[in-house]
Amino acid sequence: MSIVWTDDLAAVDWNELSALYRIAPLGNKAPADLALVFGNSMFRAVAFDEGRLIGAGRALADGRDCAHLCDVAVHPDYQGRGLGRDLVARLLARCRGHRKIILYAVPGKEGFYARLGFRGMATAMAIFDDQVSAYRRGYLTAP
Ligand SMILES: CC(C)(COP(=O)(O)OP(=O)(O)OC[C@H]1O[C@@H](n2cnc3c(N)ncnc32)[C@H](O)[C@@H]1OP(=O)(O)O)[C@@H](O)C(=O)NCCC(=O)NCCS
Repeated sequence: MSIVWTDDLAAVDWNELSALYRIAPLGNKAPADLALVFGNSMFRAVAFDEGRLIGAGRALADGRDCAHLCDVAVHPDYQGRGLGRDLVARLLARCRGHRKIILYAVPGKEGFYARLGFRGMATAMAIFDDQVSAYRRGYLTAP
């Protein structure tokens, strides 16, 4: 396995990235939406193995105070080999200097992020566009 990393969005086929998120799985993300959100993210990390897109993630950041990691996923064929850890480490390196680096994990992935130094936030809150679904999927707790 010889992994090539890039943050150059010109290298990304948005249909291929959308397929990665579907299979990872991290949900259905339309190719055009991915182009928009990755384009609007200060930092990104995309991994290729012989031209095949096998991992990706991004961080929204303001350059000083807050950075927010999103859309971290590794292709199932490559999971469990340290690629997710490398992906997050790359994003964290780019976010260095921010006073806080925040994310919310897919339920069940908290341990993955805990190994990388993340800790639960006592007061984190969110408004999801579909609050009912967010409750059902375990992202929100009752007020
Ligand atoms: C979560 C994900 C990115 C992890 O990537 P990965 O390449 O499989 O993880 P790694 O092999 O780098 O694992 C790094 C460490 O985390 C541990 N780990 C991985 N998944 C874990 C989990 N769900 N819970 C606890 N620990 C976990 C590994 O055992 C490994 O431990 P070690 O350092 O002691 O060896 C990957 O499983 C994935 O893409 N899942 C689907 C999409 C998703 O849920 N993304 C997260 C969005 S919040």
